[in-house]
Amino acid sequence: MSAYIPLLHLHSTLRYAVLILLVIAIIRGLIGWLGRKPFTKADDKIGLILLAVTHTQLLLGLGLYFISPTVEVALANMGEAMKDPNLRFWAVEHLVGMLIAIVCITLGRILSKRATDPLFKHRKAAVWYSVAFGIIIYMIPWAERGFFAASGQ
Ligand code: HEM
Repeated sequence: MSAYIPLLHLHSTLRYAVLILLVIAIIRGLIGWLGRKPFTKADDKIGLILLAVTHTQLLLGLGLYFISPTVEVALANMGEAMKDPNLRFWAVEHLVGMLIAIVCITLGRILSKRATDPLFKHRKAAVWYSVAFGIIIYMIPWAERGFFAASGQ
C-alpha cells in the first residue's frame, strides 16, 4: 500500500496545529511586546513547539513531494505544468511559499532567542511569525481556491 494517502491526510491535518500554534505565539508576542512583559518560560516553550511542529510539517511535505502523483505529472513536463495553475501550484508555488514561511518561523525563533531585551524577544517573534502566518494562509490550498490534491480528484 502506498504511503501517499496517509501522509497526505497527516500533512493536511497538521496544518491546524501549525496555524493554532502560530496564532498563540503571535498573540503572546504582541501582548509581551506592546505590554512590555517579561519573556517567560511559557513563551519559550510555545516557540519551541511551533518550530518542532513546523519542521515536522516540512519533512512530511518533502516526503509527499516525492511520491505525489500530481507532482509527478508536473515534473514529467515542467514546461506544460507551468501553464496549468493546478500543477504549477503543487510543483512550485506551495513548495516555495511554504519553505519561505518555514524560514520565517525558524528566523523568528533564532532571533528571538538571541535577543537579550524581553521587548525585542517578543517583537522578533511577533513580527516573523506574523509574516509566516500570512504566507501560510495564502499558500494553503483552501477549497475555494480550486487547487486539489490527488486524493480529491
Ligand atoms: C506550514 C507548512 C505547510 C502547510 C500548512 C501545508 C499544507 C498543505 C495542505 C493543507 C495540503 C492539502 C492536503 C489535502 O488536500 O488533503 C498540502 C498538500 C501538499 N503539500 Fe503541503 N503544507 C506545508 C508545507 C509543505 C512543504 C514545505 C512541501 C514540500 C516540500 C509541501 C508539499 C505538499 C505536497 C506535495 C502536497 C500534496 C500535493 C498532491 O499530491 O496533490 N507542503 N499541504
